[in-house]
Amino acid sequence: MSGGLRIEERDSHVLAVLDRPEKRNAIDQELVDALHRLCARLEVERRTLVLAGSGGTFAAGADIAQLRERRATDALAGINTRCFQRIRALPMPVIAVLDGYALGGGAELAYAADIRIGTPTLTIGNPETGLGIIAAAGATWRLKEIVGDALASEMLLTGRLLSADEALAAGLVSAVLEPEAALARAVELADRIAALDPAATQATKRSLLAPASAHPEIDLAEQAVLFESPEKLRRMTAFLERRSAKRTQETR
Ligand code: COA
Repeated sequence: MSGGLRIEERDSHVLAVLDRPEKRNAIDQELVDALHRLCARLEVERRTLVLAGSGGTFAAGADIAQLRERRATDALAGINTRCFQRIRALPMPVIAVLDGYALGGGAELAYAADIRIGTPTLTIGNPETGLGIIAAAGATWRLKEIVGDALASEMLLTGRLLSADEALAAGLVSAVLEPEAALARAVELADRIAALDPAATQATKRSLLAPASAHPEIDLAEQAVLFESPEKLRRMTAFLERRSAKRTQETR
């Protein structure tokens, strides 16, 4: 446990749990620092990250007590923005398990994940304008990418929060499961990812994150590297040999 973040090492992934339940896991500077330390490690170790929150909440936003004291220079430093961008850019996939409230900065942390799984109590959205600020840590571009301009605009301009079912219908979460099952699904996905070629997974993530103008050149460049990889040869040969062994067995 460090800075409000509980980290568990698992076979296929690292589980990081936001753990300030008495403050509904509000994201303060200490938590941001702990997330940066985790990113620094995962940028080198290149493992899948599963993010969750404790006490039936994902995160009720940036810490409003700290936000209230921040001034223009703090805004320009992008304290949460830079942290969530770093999470978004992690080399391996990030899976968020969203239980209960995912509000404001908590929602934006969720938007930074590649895959989101909700629970029935999920309430997600951005009430920032009600606090006199904008959602500047990803919502205005990332939420739009995920749910489209119409719903993102309605959510950000009116502060509308989505229920679990609404988030599922909007594609903001890929499933809604009871908390234990939601975490189990995240682990299942991390296990599935661990069985794939990590170089191909990382190349896919880089291509997914690239701007529209980078396609298809970036995909071709990534593929060119993979086409030369011994792992591609090994995996494809294994597939073809399995097929050929199966055919031999069938003709016997
Ligand atoms: N920042 C700082 N503290 C927060 C917080 C936040 N974003 N969200 C909750 N807390 C604190 C509360 O101040 C309270 O602390 P206290 O016991 O010292 O007074 C504690 O967490 C529990 O919150 P409480 O409001 O009593 O819990 P609840 O279960 O009744 O309600 C919420 C949960 C999430 C609906 C409510 O806390 C809330 O509206 N939070 C702010 C959401 C928000 O506007 N986020 C956007 C920030 S950019």
